[in-house]
Amino acid sequence: MRHHRIAAIPGDGIGGEVIAAGIEVLQALAARDGSFGLAFESFDWGSDYYKAHGVMMPADGLARLKPFDAIYFGAVGAPDVPDHVTLWGLRLAICQSFDQYANVRPTRLLPGIAGPLRDVGPADLDWVIVRENSEGEYAGQGGRSHRGLPEEVATEVAIFTRAGVTRIMRFAFALARSRPRRHLTVVTKSNAQRHGMVLWDEIAAEVAAEFPEVTWDKMLVDAMTMRMTLKPRTLDTVVATNLHADILSDLAAALAGSLGIAPTANLNPERRFPSMFEPIHGSAFDITGQGIANPIGTFWTATMMLDHLGEAAAGQRLMRAIERVTADPALHTPDLGGRATTRAVTDAVIAAIQGDN
Ligand code: NAI
Ligand code: MG
Repeated sequence: MRHHRIAAIPGDGIGGEVIAAGIEVLQALAARDGSFGLAFESFDWGSDYYKAHGVMMPADGLARLKPFDAIYFGAVGAPDVPDHVTLWGLRLAICQSFDQYANVRPTRLLPGIAGPLRDVGPADLDWVIVRENSEGEYAGQGGRSHRGLPEEVATEVAIFTRAGVTRIMRFAFALARSRPRRHLTVVTKSNAQRHGMVLWDEIAAEVAAEFPEVTWDKMLVDAMTMRMTLKPRTLDTVVATNLHADILSDLAAALAGSLGIAPTANLNPERRFPSMFEPIHGSAFDITGQGIANPIGTFWTATMMLDHLGEAAAGQRLMRAIERVTADPALHTPDLGGRATTRAVTDAVIAAIQGDN
């Protein structure tokens, strides 16, 4: 029997609702499989913790997470705490300290889900976006001077290092090589940003030489939004900077039907630290407490966590269960135009796991 220890951080808003659903589904999956066990420990860090203690997590928070095999994360963000405090205090603190430099975001049109693009079906939209997750525009470099005065100045400096760009390019080319189409699109903005983005392009070309089996092309980020919308079938694996991929992956999620189904993995590929798995969406205050949050993104991200833990067969079983459920419009939550509840979708996925051969 294999054992995996998972730290659950539900966070704020619907984070608590979808992570609770995800844990139920994962335990049903482990029971159905019988060859591995999952031990969850929950941490109540987030905005309520911040209001009580003045910090998003305790000073020894990272040390407590470090021994776990993976982190299952909901979302952070509350209407009455500034977003940069919640994000930097918890989610980015974990991503940066645990060197989770590869953020992987699969996008597919799942069975039964109609995206907003006319005449585009599941065969036409099957992407994985790789987001550089440690530097670039979100490196946290910069500052503010002369606060409140007319001459106030703020800088937000994008950082591109040879080591950081090389490792994300290698990761992206290797991922592209593992997919049937073996094609990578490198997103850039080197026409306007002539330092960091030019280094980005140069290193892409250097690393491409290490992967002769992979074909690749280069796209300016603005033109990329058009290609995603008008020619989705020309794309497969994509690599982009922290900011560019942040934006493009929200577009990708919308083109695949809803933000509520989109998953993501924050990976430390060398496994020196635990990796973190989360739905792409945020804490969604507008629907918190109504029992209607779509848990599919949280379930899909669980399949990525299982892959990472070496339980790929269980991950595939869960993906089959998810697809069986999305195929039935009666099991769509309101974000997908349906009337189903989080509870109903969770029960249906558990039933599909139990009925899977
Ligand atoms: P959001 O993702 O929370 O919500 C955007 C819209 O999508 C809302 O209308 C919401 O109801 C809907 N939505 C999101 N997830 C859904 C789900 N699972 N099922 C059904 N509908 C869903 O983004 P928003 O509103 O921009 O941000 C709210 C808070 O979340 C902010 O504080 C923000 O900073 C935070 N946030 C946190 C993230 C994280 O922790 N990784 C990521 C994005 C936002
Ligand atoms: Mg985002």
